[in-house]
Amino acid sequence: MERSPKAPVMPAMRCFVTGAAGFIGSSLVDRLLAAGHSVVGYDNLSTGQRRFLQGASASPRFELVEADLLGDDLLRSSIAGCDIVFHLAANADVRFGTHHPFRDLEQNTIATYNLLEAMRASGIKRIAFSSTGSVYGESTLFPTPENAPFPVQTSLYGNSKVAAEGLISSYCEGFGFQGFIFRFVSILGERYTHGHVLDFYRKLLADPSRLEVLGNGRQRKSYLYVQDCIDAMLLAIERATGRVNIFNLGQDEYCEVNQSIGWICERLALKPQLAYTGGDRGWVGDNPFIFLDCSRMRALGWTPKKSIQTSVIATLEYLIANPWVMEARP
Ligand SMILES: NC(=O)c1ccc[n+]([C@@H]2O[C@H](COP(=O)([O-])OP(=O)(O)OC[C@H]3O[C@@H](n4cnc5c(N)ncnc54)[C@H](O)[C@@H]3O)[C@@H](O)[C@H]2O)c1
Repeated sequence: MERSPKAPVMPAMRCFVTGAAGFIGSSLVDRLLAAGHSVVGYDNLSTGQRRFLQGASASPRFELVEADLLGDDLLRSSIAGCDIVFHLAANADVRFGTHHPFRDLEQNTIATYNLLEAMRASGIKRIAFSSTGSVYGESTLFPTPENAPFPVQTSLYGNSKVAAEGLISSYCEGFGFQGFIFRFVSILGERYTHGHVLDFYRKLLADPSRLEVLGNGRQRKSYLYVQDCIDAMLLAIERATGRVNIFNLGQDEYCEVNQSIGWICERLALKPQLAYTGGDRGWVGDNPFIFLDCSRMRALGWTPKKSIQTSVIATLEYLIANPWVMEARP
């Protein structure tokens, strides 16, 4: 279910979108095109899907550069002439960080440095960045505001995003950039390719009678629908005027993993036996409780439209209707 095109609220821009073929990036590309902007998408298709860009590719205002942020020849030539950068490319998988300790540093931090340098070389000064609520590590303050302290990192992913945020704010101070840093909770919706809904659905397809649950199922998480996330990003770049603008993006509610399992099983009409692996977290670096204070973004006039439950079901419906996604991301 795509949102209907909206009339442009900003003057038409030439936008550079890294991670354009990804779950959130491709959804953003469609929204930017629908709002009358031009888009240069940049993606190495490591986890992105060309199929997500089928609609965009029909537009004369869209082009895809299939290249890596870690090699900068094409980066510097393709970014030239753009007005703003939306930086979504990353290794977005938090869970397996300790399996390959260099990956988050390389894909999330060094890639961001390369991008900032390419922007600097071309005189582009506005960047919107997809960070994460994982930067707060295990906060003791709930809902967690943007100015909560986060002295201890619990995942290599969160650490790599903190470092990228630091680079962006340093470029804002040092080179007069304007930065928009968005700390997302987990995002749900159409084109979802990784996360708990897909994991549970995949397991239930393999064995409808039993469901393995990482941890004790009592983990409390907040989720946000992808179009609500994009609404916030577009509103913030239009209205926020600071040099470094940091926004939490999430819902004003959270759910237990067990509740989400209940919604998924109800939709699938299944009653599997739940097999908990135990402990209060799913994996090393998993946060047992994520709940962000999003009042700063709400003060700009943003209201998310879909509840967590509706978003979980929309995600599941998408996966049911698009079984190819399960094969594309083994
Ligand atoms: N999905 C979530 O729940 C969530 C939550 C918090 C933050 N984020 C952040 O949002 C962004 C988008 O996440 P997503 O869920 O759409 O992930 P995704 O994996 O679907 O998209 C990432 C895209 O970046 C591309 N990419 C990766 N490395 C690249 C490189 N070196 N050069 C060029 N392209 C590269 C991939 O091919 C892919 O298309 C990421 O930065 C992620 O960390 C996502």
